[in-house]
Order: sequence, then C-alpha cells, then structure tokens
Amino acid sequence: MEKLVIFGGNTLKGCVDISGAKNAAVAILPAAIMASEGICNIDNIPDIEDVHCLERIIESLGCKISREKNSARIDSTNMNSVCACTEDVRNMRGSYYLIGALLGRFKEARVELPGGCNIGARPVDQHIKGFEALGAKVVIEHGVVKAEAEKLIGANIFFDIVSVGATINVMMAATLAEGTTILENVAREPHVVDVANFLNSMGANIKGAGTDVIRITGVDKLVGCNYSVIPDQIEAGTYMIAAAACGGEVAIKNVIPKHLESISAKLIEMGADIIEGEDSVVVKSSGRLKAANIKTLPYPGFPTDVQQPMSTLLSVSEGRSVINESIFENRYKHLDELKKMGAEFKVEGRIAIIDGVNKLTGAIVKATDLRAGAAMIIAGLIAEGVTEVHNVESIDRGYPKIEDKFRGLGADIKRITE
Ligand code: EPZ
Repeated sequence: MEKLVIFGGNTLKGCVDISGAKNAAVAILPAAIMASEGICNIDNIPDIEDVHCLERIIESLGCKISREKNSARIDSTNMNSVCACTEDVRNMRGSYYLIGALLGRFKEARVELPGGCNIGARPVDQHIKGFEALGAKVVIEHGVVKAEAEKLIGANIFFDIVSVGATINVMMAATLAEGTTILENVAREPHVVDVANFLNSMGANIKGAGTDVIRITGVDKLVGCNYSVIPDQIEAGTYMIAAAACGGEVAIKNVIPKHLESISAKLIEMGADIIEGEDSVVVKSSGRLKAANIKTLPYPGFPTDVQQPMSTLLSVSEGRSVINESIFENRYKHLDELKKMGAEFKVEGRIAIIDGVNKLTGAIVKATDLRAGAAMIIAGLIAEGVTEVHNVESIDRGYPKIEDKFRGLGADIKRITE
C-alpha cells in the first residue's frame, strides 16, 4: 500500500512537462491491433497504469509489444485471439475499445465489460447501438460483450447522447466496414481527433473528426504506421489549477493551448493570469482567487475530468461557487474527503454549492477515483499542515510521476510505501 504525504503551503514555481494524453493513448493502443500488416510505432505514450494494463491485455491477444521510454512498437500481424477476458479488462474503462477494434478487424469480439472510475452508471448502450447499426449481433452474457458479424456494412448513426467512448469505438469498427458510415452527434474531444488521425495514418478514411459529424469510408485493411500521441489536456489542466491554487508562476509545457481554452478562460475570470505560448501556458497567481460558476460539458465546454481539481480551488476562493456536473451523475465523492480538510459545500443532485473558506487544514484522505486523487493532492498542497492521500493506485492509473512533477515545482510531497 502506498500513500502520498504532503506538507502544504509552498508556492509553485518553474516548469512542468505534460505527458501524452491518457484518453487518447487508451484508445490508440487498442486501435493498433487493427493493423493486419506492418508495425505500429507509437510515441509520447504516458507512463501510467491504464497503459500498462492495456499493454498486458494486448499481449494476451497474441500481439508483440516492446517498450522503450515513452514509445511502443506493436506487432499485431500474428494475433490469435478475439477474447479479452482478464482482470485487467475488468479493471479499466479503455478496454472497451477492444470491442470496436476486434469487431472491425476480425468481425468478432468477446470482451468483458469494463471497469474504471466509479463516477456514475456509465452504460455502453450507445456503443452497442452503433455496432448493431453496422450489422453486428451483440449480446451481453455473464458480463462479457459478444459481438459478431458476417460483414460490417456502413450506416448512418445518430447517437442519442454525446459520448467519447461510443464515438471512438464505433468509428474504429466502421473503418473496416463496407461502404460509408456517417456518425452524427459525436464527441469532439481532442482525443477523438487524435484517434481518427492515428487510424488515418494506418490507412483509414475518416473525415470530420473534431466536428459533430464524422464520415468514414470503409477500407479493406489497416497497416502499421508511426504516430505520436497528443499532449494530455486534463493533466495540463490539473497543473494549471494547482498553480492557480498554490500561487506562484508555473510554465506548463508541451501542451496545445487551444485544447485548454475553457480552463484558461475560467482561471482568468477568477483572477489568475494566463500567458499562452505556442506549446505552453504560463499560470501566474498571487493571491486568493474569486469564486466562479462551472458547468461541465462535452468539448469545447469545461471538461468533467477537470471539475474535481477545480472544486478544490473553488473551496478556497472568495465567495460562493456553483458547479453543475452535467456529464456524470456521481462525480462529487471527493467533496466528502475535502470536507475533512475544512471545505464547506452542499450537494443537490448534479449541483454542488461551494462556499469558499479562508484555508484548508491537512488531514488523512483518500483518492476516491483518479481525478478525485488529483483534487486531494491540490488540497494537500494548499492546506495548513500535513495531508496524507491514500488509495494512490487510483491516481497512478492516469497521472505519470505526479509526485516527481509536483516536487519539481517546489512542492513538499513524497510517496511512502507501507
Ligand atoms: C471518457 O469516458 C473518458 N474515459 C472519461 O475520462 C471522461 O470523463 C469522459 O470520456 C467524458 O469526457 C476514457 O476515455 C477512457 P462518455 P466515457 O461515453 O467514454 C453516458 C478520466 O478521468 N453514456 O463520453 O466512458 C455516460 O454515462 C475519465 O480520465 C451513455 O449513456 O464517457 C455519461 O453520462 C473518467 N451511454 C455520458 O454519456 C453510452 O453508451 C458521457 O460519457 C455511453 C455513455
């Protein structure tokens, strides 16, 4: 068991390098198994547990993977299984992308239902609706999604809700369908665009990713390619908020500032200074920020994944803030932990009302999920005294070397193995 021990109160100064995007990488790795010829060389892969988990799953399907620093070489030419049913599959969310990848390449997939952060019901009905529209027969039996088709045929699919996972999963299967598929009401997140770019580098014909209509003309096969994963918008947002909360001046490097606009705009509204460079943003904050209202929305709106770190900052900002979590119905568990540190709030359904306090005080808390963990670390960094954050495994699923990166900015944080 590991925990993070934080002595709060230091301002943050210096530079932090942002890693490759988790939510792109966890889709690109499964997409790589669609190459029936050639090797995929993928760079800028984040060193996180969700990626390690996927690598083990992909190897169990008969692919060869070699890793060097942040790069992976994936040879899926001799894959020999369409069945992904292991503990790793059950433990993470991104494993569901194997359904689209296997169905596209082999017209058959057996994949256990995914796990991941417990932040709401997280159904997969829209994924299944898409696969069925392409001609697959899909059943869920004993916790396993079984999908098969004699052949996949392009279709017009209008998603009932905007879903990152369903958009990517159905897009993957449709790349190897016969004819044209049009996906409407799709997610526009940067990682959706990144996966489409990766598939196009493999020989797919996908147009429109980044808008709300994606048009896919099916091709016969996908082949290996060289690719580099985009920077992680959510990791960058987390360090931006930490810098704003702790005060000081932090340069967040290797980012695409455009992807961060909703976060930058909110921090500016609250009183922080943001200077955008070509591939960096500098966050400066010298005192207590003002309260703000936030509604989480699909991209380009304010990301739900940044809501939890942001609520820590709001808990010490001056005045009353209202958060409307419109994406996931159960993404406020971290507030109960924050309460142990002195935060004042009220939750009514999807609305959280936060009354900013003058200070938080160190306490023993846990990371109830991945981004909740980041929220608790930021709370520890600003709190008076010592904070222990337990359940660090949740944080390691999605933040590479988080304590090293914060220490590099002047934070007093260490990992202790008990
Ligand atoms: C992805 O989850 C991310 N996970 C999440 O990252 C992120 O919070 C979320 O997108 C929203 O941006 C991965 O990429 C692995 P959705 P996903 O499908 O795809 C409902 C993080 O912290 N829905 O866009 O599962 C769903 O319940 C995390 O990195 C259906 O009703 O999210 C939710 O209310 C956690 N039916 C909404 O849509 C479906 O078939 C959006 O979910 C699919 C989704």
